[in-house]
Amino acid sequence: ARSLGDKKEKTLAMIKPDAVDKMGMILDMISHKGLLVTKAKMVLLSRAEAAQFYIEHQSKPFFNGLLDYVTSGPVVAMEIMGGNAIGVWRELIGPTNPSDARSQNSQSLRAKFGTDNTRNAVHGSDSKESATRETEFFFPSAGPSRANTAQFTNCT
Ligand code: TYD
Ligand code: MG
Repeated sequence: ARSLGDKKEKTLAMIKPDAVDKMGMILDMISHKGLLVTKAKMVLLSRAEAAQFYIEHQSKPFFNGLLDYVTSGPVVAMEIMGGNAIGVWRELIGPTNPSDARSQNSQSLRAKFGTDNTRNAVHGSDSKESATRETEFFFPSAGPSRANTAQFTNCT
């Protein structure tokens, strides 16, 4: 049996701009995995905000193209909660490159909705540390933006 803490693991999911119109199907897939969306918001990131979110990649050759893509329209950020939420969500999204995703499991989100190695439809935190940092980025636990953050307070 899972511990209470494990059942309440949280991760940060982001639907990237060109997949926002697939939100309904993505929410269905989250539900079918037994995960719960505990916070959500749609936001148009500034370039500086996107650079902060992806700071671990700032020296990579793809950094500027990544920022172009994730600032090309609004994204939907979600906190997702459930047993092994980080791993389950990473499994559901599939490999970074959609062509790898399609050759491995055509049911993953990147296989279904991704275009190329940059335009890969969705984001998922890769560790507990990044989940905490990335959730705090979109849903700060203190400060003026909290008033704008809708949440199911019975779940958090
Ligand atoms: P990364 O953290 O390696 O992938 P993931 O999103 O699967 O954790 O990279 C972050 C994002 O950067 C990735 O989703 C898409 C973009 N990216 C590129 O544009 N080109 C690349 O070669 C790589 C590796 C990533
Ligand atoms: Mg990553």
